[in-house]
Amino acid sequence: MNSLTDWSDLPDAAWEGCLRRTLWHRAHRQWTAAAAGRALGLVFLNPSLRTRAATELAAAHLGAHAVTLTPGQDTWPLEWRDRAVMDGAAAEHVREAFGVLSRYVDALGVRTFASLTDYRADHDDTAFRAIVAASNVPVINLESARWHPGQALADAATLVDRFDGEVRGKKFVLNWAPHPKALPHAVPNSTLLMAARMGMEVVVARPEGFGLASDVMDLARTTAARTGGSVTESANQDHALSGAHVVYAKSWAGAAVYDDAASEARRRQNNVGWRIDGAEMVKTNGAAFMHCLPVRRGVVVTDDVLASPNALHLLQAEYRLHAQKAILEWVWDLWRDPTYVRA
Ligand code: CP
Repeated sequence: MNSLTDWSDLPDAAWEGCLRRTLWHRAHRQWTAAAAGRALGLVFLNPSLRTRAATELAAAHLGAHAVTLTPGQDTWPLEWRDRAVMDGAAAEHVREAFGVLSRYVDALGVRTFASLTDYRADHDDTAFRAIVAASNVPVINLESARWHPGQALADAATLVDRFDGEVRGKKFVLNWAPHPKALPHAVPNSTLLMAARMGMEVVVARPEGFGLASDVMDLARTTAARTGGSVTESANQDHALSGAHVVYAKSWAGAAVYDDAASEARRRQNNVGWRIDGAEMVKTNGAAFMHCLPVRRGVVVTDDVLASPNALHLLQAEYRLHAQKAILEWVWDLWRDPTYVRA
């Protein structure tokens, strides 16, 4: 069974095959019956526009049937604790919920959530891991507290598209951005590893107190050493943006103050100047602007940057559909079918 928690768990061949297939799907835009007769269960424990629509449509494009559930809204609220006495709001334990769904479908796609108050639990991806443990079919991570592999795949394809395949050696700035709410590390973690895997010169530009987890940074450096790229950090935004080919804006909660909401919020408020606007983009080497969406206009980035021809946010979102198709093909091993069209 092919499950997808994060690309860093998988051999390079899985990533490379999925990236090739993502680009192929955008070029060919085919509906097929390759996965006819298969069912996909989608469970969203957090809201989603792109991931939900892209994954449902990816299943349809491949001839599979998707069933989407949102616990607490259209299904029972879930209990997560082991040995809980369930006399509160939660009516169904995660073990039964995913044990049952596993008997109906051929794969599950799951979006979990980050507590944003318990750094250890979020960093260990405890909610996602509980679901994987309760499931008997492959589980696709549709964004957990720690990783967002579908976003990373779509973003890699966007970069290949933008630079005509010449991505290696380009300067990629992962720019911490202000936000009214604390946000998880899933996208910045996956983005960092993606850019390192693509052999880019990656700079994580963030204010003091907003560094990413040291083990994720170490993994990114090890990856970059293998791919000919580099990974550095800077608290000097001007210096980081200088000469950049890509500015990827993203907000995330400060790891140093994650478990202290008031202090974390104060630090975010003290760094509203990290917003990307036209003046910041002028410091770059004509950089592309990227964001995973949803984006808070005027807070994270100004309208003029999003209106620029260098803004790739809609192309990234478009690639989400093609990336989800590639992931489903990989999870269901469709590449091995000799009758299946190959890139
Ligand atoms: N980027 C992303 O995952 O968007 P959604 O939260 O809308 O799915």
